Amino acid sequence: MDWGLQNRLSNIIKPQDNRALMLAVDHGYFLGPTEKLENPKKVIAPLLKYCDSLMVTRGIQRTSVPATTNTPMVLRVSGGSSIIGEDLSQEDITVSIQDAIRLNASALAMSIFVGSKYEYQTVVNLGKLVSEAEQYGIPVLAVTAVGKELGKDERYLSLACRIAAEQGAHIVKTYYCENFEKVVQSCPVPIIVAGGKKIPERDALQLTYNSIKGGAVGVDMGRNIWQSEHPVEMIKAVRSIVHGNANVDSAYDLYKKLVSEGPKKKNKSKKSTQSESKKPTQSKSNKAKTPETKPNPTKK
Ligand code: R5P
Repeated sequence: MDWGLQNRLSNIIKPQDNRALMLAVDHGYFLGPTEKLENPKKVIAPLLKYCDSLMVTRGIQRTSVPATTNTPMVLRVSGGSSIIGEDLSQEDITVSIQDAIRLNASALAMSIFVGSKYEYQTVVNLGKLVSEAEQYGIPVLAVTAVGKELGKDERYLSLACRIAAEQGAHIVKTYYCENFEKVVQSCPVPIIVAGGKKIPERDALQLTYNSIKGGAVGVDMGRNIWQSEHPVEMIKAVRSIVHGNANVDSAYDLYKKLVSEGPKKKNKSKKSTQSESKKPTQSKSNKAKTPETKPNPTKK
């Protein structure tokens, strides 16, 4: 493996423990202003130092990530369809390799839609992207998209992950499932697990734990971090599993402890400003919700 490629990969999967904590904020590329990611700059700022890498589109990287950061960028380079369009699987490569280099990408990410109408197009695009990116020593992360008509079980995910690896993907992102170990065993490159839709914090920590126990190098988690009421506390708890080998109970205890410490500090500093503390908080029900379910074929 070329030095540059190896070096970039080691920025994403930490060689000390062969683990990775990727923060996913690329959802807007087909979902638009996803709930709680309406202002990416504000969401990303406090979390950036707690993730090993950030999965992002070029638009959000340029507008919402400080260029002074040391956090490696995993640049999403595929797109073309939206949540209200006809078929989400109709994706193409939307970013040139030159622009990815200008953005100092540590890896390129794209989705493949195995079993969908556009399977051929997305799988061929993956092969071409690997060929191009390898010329510059840039690794490629293949995202195995899932959905209503695409399975989310061991059989389907094994097929999709293996096809991604066969095309030369250096990392494969997929979903956790029953018998996840089998998906990992039949994929010759590292697997990272997507968080999926928002679930209770403890469950998301359990998912993180199970994924690593099943052989994943880590998680590429988005909504279960920034849709949490306490994103920083949540990413710290996830990190304690990924890099600290914590079990679910101690990670959840850490989360609760950090949450309980947080407001105390806030109250202290606001003691004198009584009117501030009486400000009504925005009702959750007033907030526009981004659809959780993609109509067809994938669900985010
Ligand atoms: C979405 O389009 C992306 O591929 C996300 O990066 C991926 O789904 C991980 O984010 P989440 O944990 O929210 O599923």
